[in-house]
Amino acid sequence: MPAAAPAPWIVLKFGGTSVSKRSRWDTIGRLMRETAGRDGARVLTVVSALSGVTNALQALIDGHADAGATAAAAEALVERHERFCADELGLDPQAVLGARMQALRALAADPRRAAAALDWQAEVLAQGELCSSTLGAAYLRAQGLDIGWTDARDWLRTVSIPNQGEWARRLSVSCSTASDDALRARFAAQPHALLLSQGFIARADDGGTAILGRGGSDTSAAYFGALVGARRVEIWTDVPGMFSANPRQVPDARLLTRLDYEEAQEIATTGAKVLHPRCIQPCRDAGVPLWIRDTDRPELPGTEICGSAAPVPGVKALSSRRGIVLVSMESIGMWQQVGFTADVFERFKRHGLSIDLIGTSQTNITVSLDPSENLVSSNVLEALCADLAHVCRVKVIAPCAAITLVGRGIRGLLHRLTEVWSEFGRERVHLISQSSNDLNLTFVVDEELADGIMPRLHGLLIASGAMPVDETAVFGPSWRRLGLPEGARREAWWMARRDDLLDRAAAGTPRYVYDLDTVRARARGLAGIAAVDRRFFAIKANPHPAILRVLAEEGSGLECVSAGELAHVFAVLPDLDPGRVLFTPSFAPRAEYADALARGVHVTVDSVAPLRDWPELFAGREITLRIDPGFGSGHHEKVRTGGKGAKFGLAVDAVPAVVAAAAAAGARIVGLHAHIGSGIHDTAHWREVHAVLASTADEIGTVAFLDIGGGLGIAYDPDAEAFDLAAYARELVEMKAARPEYALWIEPGRWLVAEAGVLLLTATQVVDKQGVRRVGADAGMNALLRPALYGAFHEIVNLSRLDAPPGTPVDVVGPICESGDVLGRRRRLPDATREGDVLLVADAGAYGMVMANTYNQRALPVEEALA
Ligand code: LLP
Repeated sequence: MPAAAPAPWIVLKFGGTSVSKRSRWDTIGRLMRETAGRDGARVLTVVSALSGVTNALQALIDGHADAGATAAAAEALVERHERFCADELGLDPQAVLGARMQALRALAADPRRAAAALDWQAEVLAQGELCSSTLGAAYLRAQGLDIGWTDARDWLRTVSIPNQGEWARRLSVSCSTASDDALRARFAAQPHALLLSQGFIARADDGGTAILGRGGSDTSAAYFGALVGARRVEIWTDVPGMFSANPRQVPDARLLTRLDYEEAQEIATTGAKVLHPRCIQPCRDAGVPLWIRDTDRPELPGTEICGSAAPVPGVKALSSRRGIVLVSMESIGMWQQVGFTADVFERFKRHGLSIDLIGTSQTNITVSLDPSENLVSSNVLEALCADLAHVCRVKVIAPCAAITLVGRGIRGLLHRLTEVWSEFGRERVHLISQSSNDLNLTFVVDEELADGIMPRLHGLLIASGAMPVDETAVFGPSWRRLGLPEGARREAWWMARRDDLLDRAAAGTPRYVYDLDTVRARARGLAGIAAVDRRFFAIKANPHPAILRVLAEEGSGLECVSAGELAHVFAVLPDLDPGRVLFTPSFAPRAEYADALARGVHVTVDSVAPLRDWPELFAGREITLRIDPGFGSGHHEKVRTGGKGAKFGLAVDAVPAVVAAAAAAGARIVGLHAHIGSGIHDTAHWREVHAVLASTADEIGTVAFLDIGGGLGIAYDPDAEAFDLAAYARELVEMKAARPEYALWIEPGRWLVAEAGVLLLTATQVVDKQGVRRVGADAGMNALLRPALYGAFHEIVNLSRLDAPPGTPVDVVGPICESGDVLGRRRRLPDATREGDVLLVADAGAYGMVMANTYNQRALPVEEALA
């Protein structure tokens, strides 16, 4: 009978903060035991030095010239470790650390100190990990764990790399990952199933100590993983994993739960600090999965990096690097000058500078330099430029930032990046580079732009579908959501009314249900902004009579865009003062203007045509002009109503002609209006609009109010940030304070009603087809058009099984004969979802029922309002 295969290894790595407290060592012990028990594996744990110790050792080295200071520094380190041993771990320092402390003191007195010999420096630096691992092993043994200790230098051997200097060969080494059966057998022969070792250190060719460069401990774990053919390497750290952007810049950044090696490498290289890029390759070469976990929150999925059988195309991360220097080189010779590239690149090598991005044209080469110590601390750039000046005209552009979209198959995504390109189109882009491995697209811009642009770009990538966040195998929760204590998630009103809603659904679906309390609460939120003189609800979002009544009661006026809407408003609210109604049509027929004027509501004119063609209608009337400030904004190009491509409004340069036409007709311009988009979160938008309106009003001279439109966004994705009403209010207060002579009007639709409405549907069929599961609903794009029309996201839940755990992702589709009839993709409805279950589509109160249709002869949804 063949001998049973030896148990596989799992490598765990813990950094400085994870080894600097007793409780953290308890966690390490528990995780080692659990991992061994659960996976039937042996566990090797690699640790860093206690927090701050490596820096202290480096300071000791830096002060090497002063023997007394060196000895004192060593003494301080001895004391730090002894205190930690006694006070924190409750162990006897002499017994545990005696030999180590002796070694440390001996190094301080070593004759190699005076010249700071490189091998001496390496030995000094190694003491941090040797001490922490010794302390940890002693503590865990005292807790009853049968744990071995092994010197990493017995296993990790350095390899030399071409062009490596003396310093790098000792203090920034790479290790061999070429394993052999003999080494594996030797490693396996160790008597313990649980082992502790050090990160950061290795054995040099001469038998002395060598130090891995930055990110050394992670890399050690990766080397060990590769050498012993580990089942996986787990990097335990103090963040939940890698994110789709830096969460400090972009709180909506998503946890990346699964990446392939190449993508992870690219993300680590282009900015993310969680993992050093160097540690991915050893794992990739050996096919060992690498898993980033959060020590404080082991229940989170972390980021798993592995070779992916089924790659998910799409942008996985957006990263930015600051401190980028661009060097632009213009050839002074002739077109197609042979050897120009070789000439300039040779000079970069000569000055020890590594080039990152490259852009070329017939006569120019522009490159970016990786930020490096060298660049900051010396005048190497000056020397390089002087040298380059012999062969070309040089220009340095700095400081810049490189903003990179990372993801597999980026070239296949270009059609989804329209919005991203137009965002960059507003800024000065110095260089665009698309990597030859089809994994990244980088824009180099002025450094000061980078921070502000990141949240917007991240939002655009999600909205355009370029970043497929509903791929639940790859994208986890957002940073914001992870930061919320369990249960602190937005409590939507419908959660508390589940039974009631299920009863109503039993009476028939598709069915829209509106919660009037939510509408009232939103109305009061806006009423609290004192800078606003008048509020109007854009009834196109939802003209349900109960909603109109609530809003009118709460003091809101109503904004209409057709004679039909006007008739509806006065049918529902016969006593409403026409002064509280706006009429803001687009390309409406003459009769509708006549109707509105006869009703006495505020009429808006948004082109010269009505005044030019029907002047008699407007004689003696007060009118409002709709201005197009020249730009649009909003969640989708189809809802942007400003700028050259939009049919709405008067371009600012057309205003004088319209003012003349109004004068000729005998109309008086009393207001200016602009609404240039919908679903906007950046509150600076309204400031820009107001500024254009105010300056146009100054020119006209008869204007009394400025209506800055609606457009306030809501968070359709429960992971996304809610609209910042306080920031909106602050903008409004400031604009009013700046131009108090103009009354301030607003006319939002969505924000007041979207979250108040849900669409109830009934599941019809559950079908698996070629690896995709679909849950059918009794209505789709006929009841709610937004997903099909804009790719809009709406949360969908199985109301019948609200408490069941999320299952395998499914697409939720409707019954319409169009392939676009999909309400949501890759939604994790419970696996038990079946025919007859009630599905709830959230945030459907705005632009839901109003856009429903009877396509395929399907009946319109019913509607009801909850008092
Ligand atoms: N004022 C005017 C002149 C408008 O045209 C609109 C919306 C609003 C105000 C209200 O905008 P809100 O605050 O709701 O963003 N069907 C699209 C939205 C189209 C908006 C049309 N105009 C959607 O479902 O996203």
